[in-house]
Amino acid sequence: MGLRPYRLLCDHRSTPMGIGAAKPLLSWALSSNVPGLLQASYRVHVVSLGKADGTGRAAWDSGWVEAGAPYGALYGGKELSSSTPYEWSVQVRDQHGAESRAANSWFETGLLHPEDWQARWVGRGALARRANPPEGRWQSRMTAQLPPPCQMRKEFDLDEGGFPRRARAYVSAKGLYQLRVNGQRVGRDELTPGWTDYRYRIPYQVYDITTLLSPGRNAVAAVIADGWWCGYVGFDPRQQARHYGAAPALLAQIVVEQPDGSSLVVGTDGTWAEHPGEILYADLLMGEARDWRMSTPGWDCPGFDDSSWAPVTVLDDATGQLVASTDEPVRVAEQLPARSVVTTAGRSIVDFGQNLVGRVRLRLDDTSTGQRVVLRHGETLDGERLYTDNLRTAEATDVVITAGTGNKRVFEPSFTTHGFRYAEVTGYPGTLRQDDVTAIVLHNDLLRVGELHCSDPTVEQLMSNIWWGLRGNLVAVPTDCPQRDERLGWTADAQLFLATACFNADLSAFMARWLEDLVGSQSADGAFSDVAPVLPTAPWRDAAPAWGDAGVIIPYHLWRTYGDRRILERCWGAMSAWVAHIERANPDLIWRHATGNNYGDWLQVDADTPRDLLATAYFARSAGLVAEVASVLQRPEEARRFSELAAKVRRAFASEFTSADGTVGPGTQTGYLLALGFDLLPEELARRSFSHLCKDIADRGHRLSTGFVGAPLLCPVLTERGRPDIAFRLLHQEEPPSWLYSVRHGATTIWERWDGWTEEGGFQTPQMNSFNHCAFGSVGAWLWEHVAGISQAEGSVAYTDLVLQPHLDPQMAWLSARYESPRGLVALRWDHDEDAFRLALEIPPGEPAEVRLPAPLLPARVAVDGEPVDGHPWARLVMARADAMRLSLPPGQWEISAPKR
Ligand code: BGC
Repeated sequence: MGLRPYRLLCDHRSTPMGIGAAKPLLSWALSSNVPGLLQASYRVHVVSLGKADGTGRAAWDSGWVEAGAPYGALYGGKELSSSTPYEWSVQVRDQHGAESRAANSWFETGLLHPEDWQARWVGRGALARRANPPEGRWQSRMTAQLPPPCQMRKEFDLDEGGFPRRARAYVSAKGLYQLRVNGQRVGRDELTPGWTDYRYRIPYQVYDITTLLSPGRNAVAAVIADGWWCGYVGFDPRQQARHYGAAPALLAQIVVEQPDGSSLVVGTDGTWAEHPGEILYADLLMGEARDWRMSTPGWDCPGFDDSSWAPVTVLDDATGQLVASTDEPVRVAEQLPARSVVTTAGRSIVDFGQNLVGRVRLRLDDTSTGQRVVLRHGETLDGERLYTDNLRTAEATDVVITAGTGNKRVFEPSFTTHGFRYAEVTGYPGTLRQDDVTAIVLHNDLLRVGELHCSDPTVEQLMSNIWWGLRGNLVAVPTDCPQRDERLGWTADAQLFLATACFNADLSAFMARWLEDLVGSQSADGAFSDVAPVLPTAPWRDAAPAWGDAGVIIPYHLWRTYGDRRILERCWGAMSAWVAHIERANPDLIWRHATGNNYGDWLQVDADTPRDLLATAYFARSAGLVAEVASVLQRPEEARRFSELAAKVRRAFASEFTSADGTVGPGTQTGYLLALGFDLLPEELARRSFSHLCKDIADRGHRLSTGFVGAPLLCPVLTERGRPDIAFRLLHQEEPPSWLYSVRHGATTIWERWDGWTEEGGFQTPQMNSFNHCAFGSVGAWLWEHVAGISQAEGSVAYTDLVLQPHLDPQMAWLSARYESPRGLVALRWDHDEDAFRLALEIPPGEPAEVRLPAPLLPARVAVDGEPVDGHPWARLVMARADAMRLSLPPGQWEISAPKR
């Protein structure tokens, strides 16, 4: 088999429903079992499937286009029509002219024109009343303020003559919705429509409901809850529960193609009826309460008597533009069984063995009426007690009140998530057994693209903690933490962790969507915000250094990783305006003004890096990236201007903060790392700085002192400057501050603070002590890029020019990594002992990879697939010195071996 295109994506999603772009990107990866192949040209065919009668019409034939990686083509055919499925495929030719074709994929457009919408926004009716639970007094002050979610319904008739050919539901909410048709849940999406800055954009989702409809009478129904629209969001107490509006609303449009080809549209309007149901309240931070006695069985089926329900209110349509969702929503990702249940005095503590984000599914006997079963969630225990102090005001408590139906029933909340490893259950009827409880893991449905394993179980656990940290903080937006009353899209957390995150999951669509809110939050003079979306009630003046720079670093990194230039085109104005804004506010090029909340090297350890030093380093970094982006976008004038600016800021940094002996500022690790990692010093000075850095680490007993900002640079700088041994020593350090301290103490996610809990001091302040924060997981990128050694050459995008440069950890016998790059699968495994080293590689089709072998080897005795490099039919020697050797290897699977002595 030659070249084979696979993983066909439309705008970075697999078979998406509801594409809104006029020219989506159709992309693919390649595999091959023949060495040395690359894509020489491609041809894309797109066929419009129009009506459901199966007849297709050619929409686009790109013709043969000579192009290698990155593999993709912007749709260039006939104008896409609304609500239309398109089938597409790609053919590729290798350099020898052999052709192959991928299996067909498809995408479907959403409602592309505002006039396609006939549905109206609807909310609670004027007659709507609060559900007054009979025992309402148990509610807290916070939850007592929460109105009940609202059930809405409508019946309609379809032709009796046969089943519909095709039916779609286009749905959104101001708040959260779950849609139901004829008694069945529609789709698997959770917490839809997700969180964007609703003032500007509200996403909608599209569902195929063909098989849920029947000839004759049908019912469509929905529950809507507060969510981010008007629930508790973040920690801002000023406008609790009213961020974007006062109450949730629904917009739903069902379009049915009847058996005779005619079309029927049923949209939300004044004919829908509404009524509260069994959900007493539902809130992302507080939790959800249900009273089964108040359920309205059959409400989502045809024939239900809704004569006592109130008509909904048709609302003003003015807010936010409706946009087709551009990424995969939150879905159930995994279900975890309980690992143990310990019950004492009517209180059960359930341990799921993993700090996670989602909710608990509880099975119980609904034998008595009015019994209140309460589920509280916590990340850890304090002795035998559930530890919830660090949740601040987030109650993270779910409640179900039994109805006495006599049945075994399942309680699972719909409109909330919690960050927890443990749940405490009280009021449970009978004895809670392990299989009565399941943890439901929720996050945006992302393709996992990477896995890294090694022989060291503590590093394995660290990688697992990083992965679970990513999962837990990808709920609607990239959050700082998922448990306390915060859960905001903190910009630095996202930018510092991004490189690590992208090795784990395909974040192209998710981050691009979130960036719209970051860019959208920019002030008229160019300032980004510290969080995105910005809460309307909590405006930010200026983002802090390293926080606001996310607006430059993230689009840049997404472009490098996925090769989709559109992200730069979209963000260019915002990126350049941000740097220009800093320049204007700081004419002497030391960033002291317009620093917002200026957090510095957040959560460093007794090594406070001066804020102007940190800021100026980021100023230089962002100016340099903006210059590079200007060149990519063919803006020579701006490229020159920003690269001159970057050079000037670098010089200003060196003269303001560096002494002749290479000391940077007061000599903090982060100061050195910024200077070296961002390439701010002339080489001779950099060498001196580097030795200060190494000495500081040694003086601290081989320990780090970096906070959020310094941490991601630490191991890469040490490794790139020739001291991987120090980086490995830091990796394996188990005394605090270190990555493995928390692992040694049973952590299953990355802690917010190096000392979130210590043997001496116990818990850190509950005011700020999350046990699931991505930021310090940023070391993961180093394990991928330097220890496994998967990276790309300067100037390369989407791994077109792959560089494989593993570093052997003396404490690990082996390490293996698999990464589904946009180009195809890159796999690598090294193992070594005192005598020999082996490296197995898989290089996807495309240009040859440069393989940089670890020193010290004996270059003359390096073999590829058992044969010496000299005269090898495939391998080419690029460079050989006593301490380094570089090979060029074409796509294929290779095994390199070498004796060490
Ligand atoms: C968040 C951080 C964030 C920071 C700003 C915290 O409350 O949890 O991760 O970056 O505020 O310093």
